[in-house]
Amino acid sequence: MEWIHVPVMAEEVLHYFSSLNGLFLDCTVGAGGHSEAILTNIEGSVVIGLDVDNDALSLAKRRLSEFEKQGRLYLVKSSYVYAKNVLEQLKVQSISGILMDLGMSTLQLTSSERGFAFSMDGPLDMRMDKDQELTAYDVVNSWSEEQLRRLFFEYAEEKRYARRIASSIVRFRPIRTTQELARAVARALPESEKRARKRHFATRIFQAIRIAVNNELENLKEFLSYAPELLCPGGRIVIISFHSLEDRIVKESLRSNQNLTVITKKPVKPTQEEIAKNPKARSAKMRVAERK
Ligand SMILES: C[S@@+](CC[C@H](N)C(=O)[O-])C[C@H]1O[C@@H](n2cnc3c(N)ncnc32)[C@H](O)[C@@H]1O
Repeated sequence: MEWIHVPVMAEEVLHYFSSLNGLFLDCTVGAGGHSEAILTNIEGSVVIGLDVDNDALSLAKRRLSEFEKQGRLYLVKSSYVYAKNVLEQLKVQSISGILMDLGMSTLQLTSSERGFAFSMDGPLDMRMDKDQELTAYDVVNSWSEEQLRRLFFEYAEEKRYARRIASSIVRFRPIRTTQELARAVARALPESEKRARKRHFATRIFQAIRIAVNNELENLKEFLSYAPELLCPGGRIVIISFHSLEDRIVKESLRSNQNLTVITKKPVKPTQEEIAKNPKARSAKMRVAERK
């Protein structure tokens, strides 16, 4: 089925977790692909899987029901920011492995009503957690032109066109759908620029708005500030990111933490073979650190 999310760098995740046993925390369980790989390949492993997306959790629940019945899987609707509280409630003292697979699941990307994709028309939503109030509609229609310019300059790394895109959006308001947004972005860019871009011209703008709606960079910083305390000595944290700003936060946070030894001096990237099979993996970067 085409909406099934193929886990990125699953073999590499298993490689770095293979020396561990016991309890794992999957911060972004999604469709459950990585959790399934851990539960299947690491003997006696138990996984606590978090996600903010109810659709993802239902899918993971169905896919991994056998493990849940065996008491080897606990699924909880929670942001990973609150992982510490979840573990306290489950009376867990420490864990062996933490996995974060940031970014989007195929389930989210291929459903037009979630409003993440410009290739299908849908409402401007982009919430990972449908219980949250702030949507992409709010950001696009009520942020000031200056706030939008800064968002595109910093998060979309639109060094040259941030101002023009922000002003085009403000001119076209109200913008209700993903395609209307893509059109407002299109009007701001010269034809030669649109043609020159390797990816769709609106990709980075959509990504920046999604990051803002879901507070993604702040959440990541907050979790990483305390995550090493959750690990037992020798425990490992594996993080897969898809955006250069995320990777920078991960790199700096792992490096600067006194309790961690970074195992991957350079980020691990997917093999060409994996990218050929799953093009969505192409921008992935994995970093791993171990608790001293
Ligand atoms: C790339 S997918 C994970 C896919 C999963 N590893 C698999 O193999 O199926 C990322 C998931 O993270 C979830 N997510 C995003 N922000 C989150 C947060 N703050 N806390 C928990 N989950 C979050 C998304 O809803 C999405 O399902």
